[in-house]
Amino acid sequence: MVISPLPHEQDLVALPNPQPLKGTLSVPGDKSLGHRAWMATLLRPGTYTLYNVPNNADVTATRECMTALGLDVTPVNETDWQVTSPTALGTPAHPLDCKNAGTAMRLLAGLLSGLNIPATLVGDVSLSSRPMDRILTPLQRMGANITGQAHPSKPNVTVAPLQIHPQIAPLTGISYTLPMPSAQVKSAILMAGLFAQGTTTVMEPIPSRDHTERLFQSLGLPLTTEGSTITVQGGWQRPALEAPLALTVPGDPSSAAFILGAAALIPGSIITLENVLLNPTRLGWVKVFRQWGVPIKIQETGTSMGETLGSLSLSWDKESSTDRLKGDVTLTDSDIPALIDELPLLAIVAQRVQGTFTVGGAEELRHKESDRIALLQSALRAVGGNMTPLADGFIIEGDPQRMFFAPTAAISTGHDHRIALSMRVLNTAADPNIYWPLDNTECMAVSFPKFDTVLAQLQQP
Ligand code: S3P
Repeated sequence: MVISPLPHEQDLVALPNPQPLKGTLSVPGDKSLGHRAWMATLLRPGTYTLYNVPNNADVTATRECMTALGLDVTPVNETDWQVTSPTALGTPAHPLDCKNAGTAMRLLAGLLSGLNIPATLVGDVSLSSRPMDRILTPLQRMGANITGQAHPSKPNVTVAPLQIHPQIAPLTGISYTLPMPSAQVKSAILMAGLFAQGTTTVMEPIPSRDHTERLFQSLGLPLTTEGSTITVQGGWQRPALEAPLALTVPGDPSSAAFILGAAALIPGSIITLENVLLNPTRLGWVKVFRQWGVPIKIQETGTSMGETLGSLSLSWDKESSTDRLKGDVTLTDSDIPALIDELPLLAIVAQRVQGTFTVGGAEELRHKESDRIALLQSALRAVGGNMTPLADGFIIEGDPQRMFFAPTAAISTGHDHRIALSMRVLNTAADPNIYWPLDNTECMAVSFPKFDTVLAQLQQP
């Protein structure tokens, strides 16, 4: 029997030698906190200065929603903004376009319901197919007059556009156990609960990122947490700020993960990323890197927006080779929220780790900007990677010597920034001399607009 070679297999002779990443830099501001910093300006009239706001497509969508709600927004430079929040917020004259941003749509749905501002929330094709029942159910239970549309092919799923209708009576607080670990759902309820009558309590069986809780507390809003129970006191009346308020957004650990992922795969890399958000609910991926033998160091340097920030660094000495990457890692449902956005990147790094990477309890991956399990599987298959999909995760058998090849057609990204960024990392580390075409590179701007430039700068010999 003749076994024909895989495409390009005949051309593969040795592992290519990618250029190590070297340098110290700051990654763009955190996307989750960027959305929340803008939304914080709705909570009290007054003047604000926002520093280090990421100018990615997602957070820009939230900023544009603020303008439509009557805020006066002036750029100071690319990342800093002067904002005046009026005593009377406006009713948007047109639908609020959340574009690709699930956080914008879900948190604004809660906030605008609480503020009793009628609005229509729309999104791009991807956002318009993501489930919104998860926020509609608790918000409607609070008395919000909010509706969505039936998904065109899944009649049991409600999707955007969302319509927030005028409220006759104020919302009332609820006690709600989250059916899935979701900071977006939790935050939508807390935002609405702040303006509701009485107390709103959210129970989280599995903790998710706690940025809204930290921000509320740092702003002096009436929120307390006890174990897995979060309580917000309602009746907030938007008291005016007593003095101008400055909020500085720490760097995005999810963007940092892509740089450190490339550095982990390329021996000799020496990288320090400064002013990164160090919230433990976002650093699950660092634990996995360490289990694989990647010596990531963390140093705390300050606080901002109720969060700790500091540096993440990796110094891979010259002699170290990717053969050092080894270890079986199994993740289950309670591990997932702290690395949900980094699972595509972890699937890439795992390709070169000696061991088995088993991810379960991550069904949420199928409801992100794309079905990330399906997209990763096809993208990896297109370049010779390994991945066995599961209903709620995947298994990867890693191999430090695995060879990859350029795809025969543009890789399908599902227009999903994290799939595109992840495949760029694999391309850079595993096949640096051939550019792998992606069917959409612009989507990288959803979270990390200058990723290609930053990577190229760090790889300058
Ligand atoms: C986010 C929460 C997460 C995360 C998303 C941002 C947030 O979504 O995946 O990128 O800012 O609250 P879920 O809360 O739906 O898991």
